[in-house]
Amino acid sequence: MCAIECYFSAAEAWNESGHGTRFGHNPNEKPNVMPKVTFITQEGKSVEIENADGCLVEVAVEEEVEGIAGDCGGACSCSTCHVYVPKEWMDRVGPANETEKDTLSFNSHCQPNSRLTCQIEMTDELDGLVLQVAPND
Ligand code: FES
Repeated sequence: MCAIECYFSAAEAWNESGHGTRFGHNPNEKPNVMPKVTFITQEGKSVEIENADGCLVEVAVEEEVEGIAGDCGGACSCSTCHVYVPKEWMDRVGPANETEKDTLSFNSHCQPNSRLTCQIEMTDELDGLVLQVAPND
């Protein structure tokens, strides 16, 4: 057996034991996800943000998403970070918390799928999330 065959035999044995591939990538490991979120503004402009991480209002303000102001700095008291969550994302994003519901109750554009982005933490599970920016009061 030549050295190359010997190397691949050893690598295959290693792979079959669940410890990676011959190229050093372990297929059992979760790939390094770079979560992406898309905001659709009131004017219909799509703003895609790659590698979104952390609190969504901060992500949106940093990228200057039109219609997301975050005036209270994420304290859940202004509703200037209001978005609508599409039906297909509702389970993964989850419902509004009690404080958020109180704040949203003062917003004339509140709908059952309303959320405040200052109360949503971006995670790998939300990769591909699309949010509609709600109209401002
Ligand atoms: S930033 Fe004020 S309620 Fe979200």
